[in-house]
Amino acid sequence: MDEEIKICYNKLNLMDKMEKIISLCKRRGFIFPGSEIYGGLANSWDYGPLGVELKKNIKDEWWEVFVRGRGDMIGIDAALIMNSKVWEASGHVKEFTDPLVECKKCHQRFRADQVGEKCSNCEGEFTKAKQFNLLFKTFLGPIEDASAEVYLRGELAQAMFVDFPNVLQTTRKKLPFGIASQGRVFRNEITPGNFIFRTREFDLMEFEYFVREDEWEKYFEYWLEEMKKWLSHIGVKKDYLHFHEIPDGERAHYSKRTIDIEYDYPFGQKELYGLAYRADFDLKNHQEKSGHNLTYTDLENGENFLPHVIEPTFGVDRTVLVALLEAYHEEEVGGETRVILKFPYWTAPYKVAILPLSKKPELSKVAEEICEDLRQNFVCDYDDTQSIGKRYRRQDEIGTPYCVTVDFDTLNDQAVTVRDRDTMRQDRIEIKKLKEYLNGKLQ
Ligand code: GAP
Repeated sequence: MDEEIKICYNKLNLMDKMEKIISLCKRRGFIFPGSEIYGGLANSWDYGPLGVELKKNIKDEWWEVFVRGRGDMIGIDAALIMNSKVWEASGHVKEFTDPLVECKKCHQRFRADQVGEKCSNCEGEFTKAKQFNLLFKTFLGPIEDASAEVYLRGELAQAMFVDFPNVLQTTRKKLPFGIASQGRVFRNEITPGNFIFRTREFDLMEFEYFVREDEWEKYFEYWLEEMKKWLSHIGVKKDYLHFHEIPDGERAHYSKRTIDIEYDYPFGQKELYGLAYRADFDLKNHQEKSGHNLTYTDLENGENFLPHVIEPTFGVDRTVLVALLEAYHEEEVGGETRVILKFPYWTAPYKVAILPLSKKPELSKVAEEICEDLRQNFVCDYDDTQSIGKRYRRQDEIGTPYCVTVDFDTLNDQAVTVRDRDTMRQDRIEIKKLKEYLNGKLQ
């Protein structure tokens, strides 16, 4: 069968591919436009039943790899709204800005670093650029005055600095060690767009890795390598990655060195992840502004100092987008186009689909029993609608690695047909050996 498959993936026009993925995401329940029945809300997206599984697989695996799988990392899950003094001390109230210009004719607003001389909408002239702060403001409690003003968090990092003494005291960790976190952050982006690439609320996974100052370079290199391993684990091809050293004057206000890991998206080479050396910028500022001692004491020699920080940061939604882009394949089979999401097995929303050949009660009974049993070990889908061919296509399109078909022979031979997503090979497997077979394949 393999020889019959003609890969036409590379021929896909790139923007066409992006549109196909957005449409597949909507059609199959990965990602929907937000607030759709009210006409939507620009650039807001909701994860549907399959999208939430994909995203959860990514977040859970990241936690396993970087937190539970290591002795030098612990996690926290902090409040989204923090004391406003945190964002003043961190420099975000002053520095977390993008340059904004407005067209004098049509009054559309743009990021100054993303436009040409004239407005792309109406050829109008732009105003002078002014700095626009990305933090979202709201009010805590019933009185809407300046004293109640707070910010939705713009990054996860600050809680890991502010909680540093509590974590140190409760875990007694020795340097080097990291504090990790996952969660939602908010940024009032001037120009969101490109599906889930740039939105105004998104999920992050990041950690602050605390080291001695003289070891920062060693750990910077170390974490760059670990980030590359993670990217390979999620199935990203090396050729699509670029490591961009951000020059002086262009880095975030807190960083002494940054490498942006960029990816070749259909809409251009843009940031996927970041790796920053934040030195002692944050701990020093919080110590000064809060008056609280944030130093670390080496119990062996009594040395007392502020640790330095290496910060690897991973956008969850950009990871989902890249996972979809890498997985999307079109193949020609028997004159028809077969669309497949070739996810690595661990990211696939469903691992196994159980498909009774007909809705006849004797088949449904066996198929439902198999499904209930497999569900103890794998995330399963059960589908008894339409022809078996259409059901295979549907499972290919959502990336399910294995389909188990229950047919009329099953009633006699107590066996089922297992179809492999990538090779389309079909094996006849005894029901009593099915779990073992799938375990072997999906491990
Ligand atoms: N604590 C460091 C930090 O937040 P960042 O480069 O500002 O660094 C981290 O953001 C990551 O968040 C980026 O590498 C990217 O993956 C993701 N990201 C940034 N802005 C985003 C947006 N508007 N929408 C979706 N993801 C975004």
